[in-house]
Amino acid sequence: MNNVAVIGSQWGDEGKGKIVDWLSSEADVVVRFQGGHNAGHTLVIDGVTYKLRLLPSGIVRKNKISVIGNGVVIDPWAFLDEINEIRSKGVKVGEDNLIISESANLILPFHKEMDEIREDAAGKAKIGTTRRGIGPAYEDKVGRRSIRVMDLISEKNLDQRLETVLLHHNAIRKGLGKSIFKKDKLKDDLLKIAPEILKFSKPVWNKIYEFKKQNKKILFEGAQGILLDVDHGTYPFVTSSNTVASAAATGSGCGPNSINYVLGITKAYTTRVGEGPFPTELKDEIGEKLGTRGKEFGTVTSRKRRCGWFDGVLVRQTIKISGIDGIALTKLDVLDELDEIKMCIAYKIDGKEIDYLPAAVEDQLKVKPIYQSFKGWKTKTRGIKKFDDLPTNAKNYIKELEKFIETKVSSISTSPERNDTILIVDPFKT
Ligand code: GDP
Ligand code: IMO
Ligand code: MG
Repeated sequence: MNNVAVIGSQWGDEGKGKIVDWLSSEADVVVRFQGGHNAGHTLVIDGVTYKLRLLPSGIVRKNKISVIGNGVVIDPWAFLDEINEIRSKGVKVGEDNLIISESANLILPFHKEMDEIREDAAGKAKIGTTRRGIGPAYEDKVGRRSIRVMDLISEKNLDQRLETVLLHHNAIRKGLGKSIFKKDKLKDDLLKIAPEILKFSKPVWNKIYEFKKQNKKILFEGAQGILLDVDHGTYPFVTSSNTVASAAATGSGCGPNSINYVLGITKAYTTRVGEGPFPTELKDEIGEKLGTRGKEFGTVTSRKRRCGWFDGVLVRQTIKISGIDGIALTKLDVLDELDEIKMCIAYKIDGKEIDYLPAAVEDQLKVKPIYQSFKGWKTKTRGIKKFDDLPTNAKNYIKELEKFIETKVSSISTSPERNDTILIVDPFKT
């Protein structure tokens, strides 16, 4: 029996939501373990689109338990809004199918404001965050002054915790010439919604332990992608959490041996939202074409995603960093009309060839991609469900990609629809 972690192997938006939803037919429990409502996971089921930000993508299926682990940062109002939104589409959400960790840290309005203040003040050096308060909330967590779900239980405790965190925030706000953030209104607002949040709150670590004892299959759902990982990504143009597979253990409260298979979701080309290095970015009509065919607009901020060729060097690197066992290759159909398809197989920097992305952002901005070229297939792959039905040139592209990244392609996605997926290796059965 296997538990599977699904993570993004690029800069996010690889199609994790679609694949988690598809795989969750086999899982009993789906767990989010990091990030917050900066994530935007889109599922399309029988023509109906569901956009999830904080809720695990398993929520849309009946008889599955969705879990939000301690590693997630929760904006309590965004959380309740999302529950209402998904309920309005006929999805049942209640204490029997949704659990949140009592130790998860809250994103509060002053975090969002701090995110905005900083981004606005940074000018050209801005990160291009989702402005949801993710970074400031994680800073408060590590700074040991955060408010956690369990702090909503007692008014007295909440008052003290808010006093501590606002002392810190107001000192910075004053320094930046911004107004002081008042405690009392926020406290009242939080106490008003506290019962609605607390009813979902449980010791997630213990629930996971019980699920394992009951032989339930657990699917850990990552947000963002490894190149946005705070340690391993294109720092400082990253998010503020660890997005690698091992974060599934710390972010939910189990050991790394609870994860038996790591599935890296990988787009057949590359996209990025926000600022930062992107060696294979295409600022030409091919980039535009990928963006239009792939509908590359952010789920959360509606920003246009930057598009480029598949970067084999980067994906090979993230596979090594995160111990990816197999990849789910998504959005193959977006390449259907191209005459020529390119894959980056090395970089050139200062006249020298290198086979990995250097750690310094200055070097990351300087590297020039070296490409291998492939003949396009110029036939429709959209909706194909069997590997043998793919055109020869598409099979060839996949085989060469697989060889280059030294990892098996275990599934292929050919449209946003749940069932338009080719299964090669079932990660729950390896
Ligand atoms: P996530 O953040 O990794 O879950 O990805 P997003 O949902 O933000 O972005 C992926 C987008 O591509 C969504 O709009 C999906 O519906 C769509 N999508 C997923 N897989 C495929 C695919 O194989 N082909 C096409 N054309 N679209 C896909
Ligand atoms: P999913 O789960 C793509 C990017 C932002 C910005 C950087 C930091 O849908 O793949 P943050 O608000 O996290 O402090 O922003 O990270 N980013 C994402 N890009 N997909 C995401 O999530 C992202 N979440 C954050 O655009 O560059
Ligand atoms: Mg997304």
